[in-house]
Amino acid sequence: MRLGLVLVAALCGLGAARAETPDQRAKALMAKLTLGQELALLHGNFALRAYDAAYGLPPAPPVPGALGSAGYVAGIPALGIPALQEVDGGLGVSVPPDAQDGHGSTPLPSGLALAAGFDPAMAYAAGAMMGREAFERGFNVLLAGGVNLTRDPRGGRNYEYLGEDPLLAGTLDGALIHGVQDQHVLATLKHFAMNDQETNRQFDNAVIGEAAFRESDGLAFEIALETGHPMAVMCAYNQVNGQYACASHHLLDDVLKRDWGFTGFVMSDWGAVHSALDINAGLDQESGEEFDPVTYFSTPLAVALSQGKVARARVDDAVRRILRAELTVGLMDHPPVRAPIDFAADGAVAEQEEAQGLVLLKNTGLLPLSPTVRRIAVIGGYANAGVMSGGGSSDVVPKTLPQLLPVVQMGEGLAGIYTRAILDPDAPLAEIERQAPGAEVRYDPGLYPSQAARLAKWADVAVVFAPKWETESQDVPDLSLPAGEDALIAAVAAANPRTVVVLETGNPVLMPWLPKVGGVVEAWYPGAEGGKAIARALFGRIDPSGHLPMSFPASTDELPRPVVPGQDAAPGQITPVDYNIEGAEVGYRWFAARHLPVLFPFGFGLSYTSFRFSHLRLGPGLGVSFDVCNTGKVAGATVAQLYLTARNGVAMARLAGFARVALAPGETRHVSLTLDPRVLADFDVAADDWALPGGTYRFGLGDSAADLTEGSAAHLRAQRVAP
Ligand code: BGC
Repeated sequence: MRLGLVLVAALCGLGAARAETPDQRAKALMAKLTLGQELALLHGNFALRAYDAAYGLPPAPPVPGALGSAGYVAGIPALGIPALQEVDGGLGVSVPPDAQDGHGSTPLPSGLALAAGFDPAMAYAAGAMMGREAFERGFNVLLAGGVNLTRDPRGGRNYEYLGEDPLLAGTLDGALIHGVQDQHVLATLKHFAMNDQETNRQFDNAVIGEAAFRESDGLAFEIALETGHPMAVMCAYNQVNGQYACASHHLLDDVLKRDWGFTGFVMSDWGAVHSALDINAGLDQESGEEFDPVTYFSTPLAVALSQGKVARARVDDAVRRILRAELTVGLMDHPPVRAPIDFAADGAVAEQEEAQGLVLLKNTGLLPLSPTVRRIAVIGGYANAGVMSGGGSSDVVPKTLPQLLPVVQMGEGLAGIYTRAILDPDAPLAEIERQAPGAEVRYDPGLYPSQAARLAKWADVAVVFAPKWETESQDVPDLSLPAGEDALIAAVAAANPRTVVVLETGNPVLMPWLPKVGGVVEAWYPGAEGGKAIARALFGRIDPSGHLPMSFPASTDELPRPVVPGQDAAPGQITPVDYNIEGAEVGYRWFAARHLPVLFPFGFGLSYTSFRFSHLRLGPGLGVSFDVCNTGKVAGATVAQLYLTARNGVAMARLAGFARVALAPGETRHVSLTLDPRVLADFDVAADDWALPGGTYRFGLGDSAADLTEGSAAHLRAQRVAP
């Protein structure tokens, strides 16, 4: 009887939900709201009180109702409108130690490890894991979904993002966002747009032509938007073509809302609003109002309304968008339910992401290490304590807090706040010991190259860990490894050429010692189970199958801007950053167009096995198929990459499609792809659409931008493609 009642209730619930769309429900709620209530939904707090002093904010009491995270927008309980409890960030649930409820979360590897896997399914799993942890900790908004392209390999936040190619970055970001929002947690695509460097980020003026924007950074956002359907977009700090991004009618209204049909809401970055009138440009919500001189979207907005400078319809539209977003993602019907985090299951996601993202850059045959190796020297990089993570709002405090968390002082950061690197405590040293139980493993911290070299001489093999910390709010001045690590590696390699270098970096680095070492693995920031993934790859338990999502330049001289613009600018001084130098030719496209040498090309990555690509067939239409065979003796994975190499005889380099393929020895897989026409086309500014010229298109297939072993050409008819 009881069961019958429950069933009826459930069916009724289902019927009601189906009858009303998010738009209809938002409309019904709007009818009940006063203007004061509407305005209250349009601005929110920075709720991390413990960080006020570091940010130079005056002391203030805790925000009532807030869980104590980066963002909080009060709800209207009487109408069932929930508060927005917003938490950073893109690599896990980022709640700083001081605001912790004592639990910690699971840090994922850096976004570059995800990108190096070239695997949308992995991106979905990573997003779902983060979304679930956010939900289990009581948050309904995860400030995740960063997709700014790597235009400068010194960018402080590149480690959070997904590399330099719009198709790769947009596809993965969309999958990640989808994973987050499937947990009834709202995600935010950010930072829109052109926030491609951190130095001086609040005062940079990104200068770029419209076609170049649409074909590069714009395309990454567009693809992420249409595949992930984020219901929030965060506008950036910087200016774009002389207009602050959060006040840019062109970016927010014309491109995002009109051309791309975005139906959610635009939230500002924290401290990125400059006037109540920014709402007229398409900004819907002011975040972190404590960072602004006044709360613009409160009294100043009410005044602007009364003076007719802002239309009531625009305010209604902003509120409707927020409510629609909440209803679409399910924030009202599925409020967060606190639950213990399953660290084992979530750690497995982090480990898998790192395993797929490890890039083997060099191997003279030293790797994989034999399990019978007798003496192993592990050197440097805090390998006895943990693995490096990046700094800033995306940094995740792992579960071992507060007693055991190792932090490393890294120097001065923004207002003294981003100065500590968290070491995620899966120490590679312990994992290496586990992988080689019969070996004697000794550790040297790497502070004195001569001492490390002595240990290396004793060993059969030396593994040097070389971290480079990068952080939000500041770019690094050059591509060197910091703190004498180059000298350390050189000394160790001179003492024992059987040296493997494991890089834990958030960007490319130069490797002056490269010819002297036997192996190099790029491990990025390795995340919660990073030590395990690295050790397993070193010993061949897994194939390190990542491929570079960004080119590794040979020097800063070959970059579009050899010096990071604005490094010496006074605070508040607007600094133009001329992105028209490379335009849409970002990263590998820039190097290819100018025939510039690189240290390692985009897409590069070795394996413990070998692969052959064959039977490349183009057509019909934009269909492509080919075979991939594992020609080696062990199981492994590769990333098949298809590039447009010429259009009507004009050479170009554009990643047009990719597939990560895992194969047993001797196995062959037939792969079919359908190309996105925008990757082959040009953006036509006058017509506001994409033009695919008719003619001959040449493609190359291979495992990096510089190694295309199969080629073929197709004739395509001229086409227009609407955005
Ligand atoms: C960052 C955002 C972040 C926000 C809230 C800003 O400084 O740019 O990515 O979500 O702070 O912490």
